[in-house]
Amino acid sequence: MKNNNLRNSEELKQLLDSRNLKICVIGIGRIGLPTALSFAKSGLTTIGVDINTDLVSMINSNEYPLKDEPGYDVIFNKVIKNKKFHASNKIEDVVPNSDVILLSLPTPMDKNNIPDYSALKSVGKQLGELLEPNSIVVVESTIEPGFVENELIKIIEDGTKQLIAGKNFSIGVCPETANPGEIMKDFTKLPRLVGAIDEKTTQMIMEIYKHTFPVELIPMSNCKTANAVKLTTNVFRDLNIAFVNQLALLFEKLGIDISQVLEAAKRKYNFQVHYPGPGVGGPCLPVNSYQMLNSAKQFDDNMLSLVRIAREVNESMPNHVVDLIINGLKEVNKQISTSTILLLGISYKPEIKDIQLAPSEKIIEKLKEYGANIKIYDPFYKSTNVFEIETENNIEQALSNIDSVVLVTAHKEFHDLTPSFIASKSEMPVVIDTQGIFNQDDAKKSKLIFRVLGSGKF
Ligand SMILES: NC(=O)c1ccc[n+]([C@@H]2O[C@H](COP(=O)([O-])OP(=O)(O)OC[C@H]3O[C@@H](n4cnc5c(N)ncnc54)[C@H](O)[C@@H]3O)[C@@H](O)[C@H]2O)c1
Repeated sequence: MKNNNLRNSEELKQLLDSRNLKICVIGIGRIGLPTALSFAKSGLTTIGVDINTDLVSMINSNEYPLKDEPGYDVIFNKVIKNKKFHASNKIEDVVPNSDVILLSLPTPMDKNNIPDYSALKSVGKQLGELLEPNSIVVVESTIEPGFVENELIKIIEDGTKQLIAGKNFSIGVCPETANPGEIMKDFTKLPRLVGAIDEKTTQMIMEIYKHTFPVELIPMSNCKTANAVKLTTNVFRDLNIAFVNQLALLFEKLGIDISQVLEAAKRKYNFQVHYPGPGVGGPCLPVNSYQMLNSAKQFDDNMLSLVRIAREVNESMPNHVVDLIINGLKEVNKQISTSTILLLGISYKPEIKDIQLAPSEKIIEKLKEYGANIKIYDPFYKSTNVFEIETENNIEQALSNIDSVVLVTAHKEFHDLTPSFIASKSEMPVVIDTQGIFNQDDAKKSKLIFRVLGSGKF
C-alpha cells in the first residue's frame, strides 16, 4: 500500500520536491512509454503497466521497443540503469502503490467505425478494486467529450473500494497530442491541456506535468472541454485534407497542378495549407473524426454531416489511386489483372513503422480484387509479411520487372529516387506519385507513364 498522501497542493509539492511521488502509466505503447520515460527522467519513480507480456519482458531485459522514436532510447537506458523505471504486467501490485495513475490505453474503433473504449473501461473496473484513497487518475487517451464524466467515473465508483470522485480520489485528463516519430520534440514544445473534475485537481495535475514537461500547460474548465479541443484539432485536419483531396480530383481533370496552387495559396496569411494524398490513416485522425461523429449521433444522425462527408472523401482516395494505375496501364495497353504493381511505402506516414488504418491496405485490397500481382517495398518493413504479401528487401530488385510503381508513403529514402532510375529498371513503367515528391522534369524526359495525384496528365 502506498505511504503517501496526496490530499492537497502542499502535500503534492513536498512529494515532488523530494522526488517521492510514485507514478504509474497503464498502457506503455507508442505514447505511454515515452510518457513514462519522461516522468522517470524527471526523477520520479515510474512503473509502466501493460497486458502485453512480451513488451514487459522486452523492456525489463533492457531492450528499447520504439526503434522509430528517436531520442528516447538514450533516456530509456538511463532510467532503467538508475532504477527509476521498469515495466510490469501486474496492475494489482502497481496501482495500490502509486500516487498518480496515467492511462495511455488504446481507443480504437471497431469494423463499423464505432469507438471502442473497452481497454479504458476494463482498466477503470480494475481501478475500482485497486485504487488507494487520495490517488489521482489522469486519462491521456483520446476520448469523446463526456466519457470521463458520464462513464469512467461511474465504473471506478462502482468498484468495491467505495471511491467517490472529488472526495477520496481525483480524476482528470491531459490528452496526448504528440506526433509519432517526433514525440521527443513534441513533448518539449507542444502545449498540454489539463481538465479535471474540479479546480483543485486541475491545479494538482498541472503541477505534476510542470515537474516533467517544459511546455505551456493550459487549464480547461473540465474534462470534456479538454477532450473536445484534442478532437477539434484532428478533425480540422481531416476536414481540410478532404477539401484538398476533392480539389485534387478536380484539378486532375482541369490539368492544374495542385502543388503549384497550394504553394501560392499558402502565401496568404490566413490560408493554412494541407496536402492531398492517397488517404488518411493512423491511430488518430480517422478515429477522432468518428469519435466526434459518435458524440453528435446521440442528438441527431445528421449533426456534423460535414465531418461524415470528409471521411467519405478521404476513404475514397485509395480507389482513386487504383484508378490512376488502371488509367496509366491503359496507355501502354496493359491490363491490371496481368500487371505487377509495386507499392513504395505502406506506413500511414513517412519515417515511422506503423500501418494502422493505412491507405496502403485499401489500395492493396482493391488491387487484389482486380487480380494484380502486388509487390511491396518499405524501408520499415523489409523481408516480412504484411497484408499477406512477402515484402521486398532491396529497392533495386523491387523495381525490376514491374508494370507500375505507386509511391504511397513519402519515406526519406524515396526522395532520392529519380523517375529515370525507375524507368531504367522496367519496360515503360507506369509511375504514380501520390505525394508529389518525384522530379517532374526528370519524369518528362524518362521513358515512363507518369501521373501525380492532383496534377493531371504529363
Ligand atoms: N499514436 C499516436 O499517434 C497518438 C497520438 C496522440 C494520442 N494518442 C492516443 O493515445 C492513446 C494510446 O495510443 P498508443 O498509440 O500509445 O497505443 P498503443 O497501442 O501503441 O499502446 C497502447 C498499449 O496499451 C496496452 N494495453 C491495452 N489494453 C490494456 C489493458 N487492459 N491493460 C494494460 N495495458 C493495456 C497495449 O498492450 C499497448 O502496449 C490512444 O487513445 C490514442 O488515440 C495516440
